[in-house]
Amino acid sequence: MTKAREAAPIALPGEERSLEASLRPQRLSDDEYINQDKVKGQLRILIEAAKVRGDPLEHVALFGPPGVGKTSLAYVIAHELDVPIRVTSGPAIERAADLAAILTNLENGAVLFVDEVHRLPRVVEEVLYPAMEEFHLDIVLGKGPGARTLRLPVPHFTLVGATTRIGRLSAPLRDRFGATYRLDLFKPDALEQVVRRAARILKVEIEPAAAHEIARRARGTPRIANRWLKRVRDYAQVRHDGRVTLPVAREALAALEVDDAGLDAEDRKLLLAITEKFGGGPVGLETLAAALSEDAETIEDVYEPYLLQEGYVQRTQRGRVATERAYRQLGLPAPKNATLWNGEE
Ligand SMILES: Nc1ncnc2c1ncn2[C@@H]1O[C@H](COP(=O)(O)OP(=O)(O)OP(=O)(O)O)[C@@H](O)[C@H]1O
Ligand SMILES: [Mg+2]
Repeated sequence: MTKAREAAPIALPGEERSLEASLRPQRLSDDEYINQDKVKGQLRILIEAAKVRGDPLEHVALFGPPGVGKTSLAYVIAHELDVPIRVTSGPAIERAADLAAILTNLENGAVLFVDEVHRLPRVVEEVLYPAMEEFHLDIVLGKGPGARTLRLPVPHFTLVGATTRIGRLSAPLRDRFGATYRLDLFKPDALEQVVRRAARILKVEIEPAAAHEIARRARGTPRIANRWLKRVRDYAQVRHDGRVTLPVAREALAALEVDDAGLDAEDRKLLLAITEKFGGGPVGLETLAAALSEDAETIEDVYEPYLLQEGYVQRTQRGRVATERAYRQLGLPAPKNATLWNGEE
């Protein structure tokens, strides 16, 4: 039987995973779990109300791009409720029996965090519904006319489900969450706080201007901000005296191929594909994915949110289009009819 296992983001190397664990916020306070004020405000009420009533927290769905704090928030919720957390992911629960094993072993009131909840197999989802609503499992024994249903109670638990896009959840599953929160990319000021917090924990001596620079170039993503901080720190130690000053940060980021606008090599490859291979677009997502040997989902979930937000790419009926800003950033002459970015989507 598959046991619930820690669903670390698959693409992260071991070093980065331990970095994430050490930097993971524990509390909902503003200096721990930074930004996302609206979500925090609503969650505080939800948590307080559940505590006052002595009920388990309602099931919570979290969605947003990779690295913006979904897994962290699940841990924070468990911490604030003072209950244990069990961590698993949609694809790790293959069969109904796997889910039954996880649920029956939960402590009363526990948080069950299911990452990539949109990838739960349908058969598992169906067993999950009554568990979420009434805290029991209906297990079918036998087949055909002699089949019987066994009703098995499970501990009261709170499901916290995370997904990169809420649209991927099946409607019946979506309906069973009591609260749905959207976590957005961070503005540079909020990211700067993330960098300062991480620097404190990692005991990195950093100039405010350097923290600002790293934040500005981290694609709105706390995970990336922490990653750059660590790389810049390494660079400062090896090439300089260990202190992260603005010139050191700039030098290190250039060595990492992060450009002035915070676009990395992958972002530029994507923009170059649209501008060079497809004449600026429009180009369909699948075609673009094939040209980059990437899967369409990764492009949509990982690369595009920031490129769209910053107006390098626009999504049209006929596909993706590179804007005038993209040409400028790549140092290429923009065609006369290039789409101008007007600051709105
Ligand atoms: N609000 C926040 N305050 C401080 N640090 C944060 C915050 N959100 C995220 N981080 C940092 O970013 C890292 C990545 O966040 P997390 O793993 O929670 O993202 P995620 O949304 O679950 O990503 P994925 O979709 O890839 O699973 C965390 O380890 C943490 O250090
Ligand atoms: Mg996660």
